[in-house]
Amino acid sequence: MSDILTHVEAGVMTLTFNRVDKKNSITRAMYAALADGLERAAQDAAVRVALIQGDATVFSAGNDIGDFQNAPADPGPREQQPVWRFLRAIATFPKPIVAAVCGPAVGVGTTLLLHCDLVYAGDNAAFALPFVNLGLVPEAASSLLLPQMLGYHRAAEALLLGEPFMAEAALEVGLVNRVLPPTECNAAAQQQARKLAAKPLASLIETKRLMKGGQQAAVLARMDEEGQLFGRMLHEPAAREAFAAFAERRKPDFSKI
Ligand code: COA
Repeated sequence: MSDILTHVEAGVMTLTFNRVDKKNSITRAMYAALADGLERAAQDAAVRVALIQGDATVFSAGNDIGDFQNAPADPGPREQQPVWRFLRAIATFPKPIVAAVCGPAVGVGTTLLLHCDLVYAGDNAAFALPFVNLGLVPEAASSLLLPQMLGYHRAAEALLLGEPFMAEAALEVGLVNRVLPPTECNAAAQQQARKLAAKPLASLIETKRLMKGGQQAAVLARMDEEGQLFGRMLHEPAAREAFAAFAERRKPDFSKI
């Protein structure tokens, strides 16, 4: 069974994280499958809305940390890297994207939501942006979009401290639309996605484009800047210590770095 399930029905392409034993952490192959799905959905007239979900216990623990540890120093052209393809596809996706988030949503599990149009959360949702704690920098243009959404100081708390925040706090700052019992979350998101899919597609696309306020070039430029820093910092001592600490189930020691 694939780690990303792709299903199209009633005009909705549902992409489901299916690696629950590893908390739906995202491997290179999973980024590639997500990118393939979104690229296809953008072109396919039968798909009017995309929906991204996990299950009632976990959305995603973010990038697979083993993949971070094994990332090549020279990964080749950015356009061919699965994570870059995915981030670009979600940031430029012309049709509506709905997300259903229960349990942990860590790193890209939270930042991808900044590119979704409607987000429904289980009351067990726990969001975290631990990039600094991993010796890294934010990605997915979250260094641009999060201050815009939360205001600078709340974004600084989320990004500099990297402490988790729960569904109610996410609702308060506007990161999610509604908080639901976890067992109802995916169905509620699917219902909203189908409502959208029944509307005139051209109006949806143009309205989304207008609401994004012509910010796409700035978003892509920021993703590029973040990506260059991120790729370099993956190989620096702070990140290596953080990854080793995660594998050894201990606290990282940055005191000598
Ligand atoms: N990459 C690779 N494996 C991961 C992972 C990740 N990001 N997150 C969780 N896993 C694996 C664990 O290693 C463990 O594997 P094992 O059963 O083979 O030992 C399994 O998933 C369960 O994780 P565990 O930590 O035991 O679950 P938990 O319920 O105690 O905690 C999280 C869940 C999400 C809070 C915790 O796993 C976590 O913090 N993960 C790392 C998140 C992160 O830093 N991501 C990178 C963001 S840039």
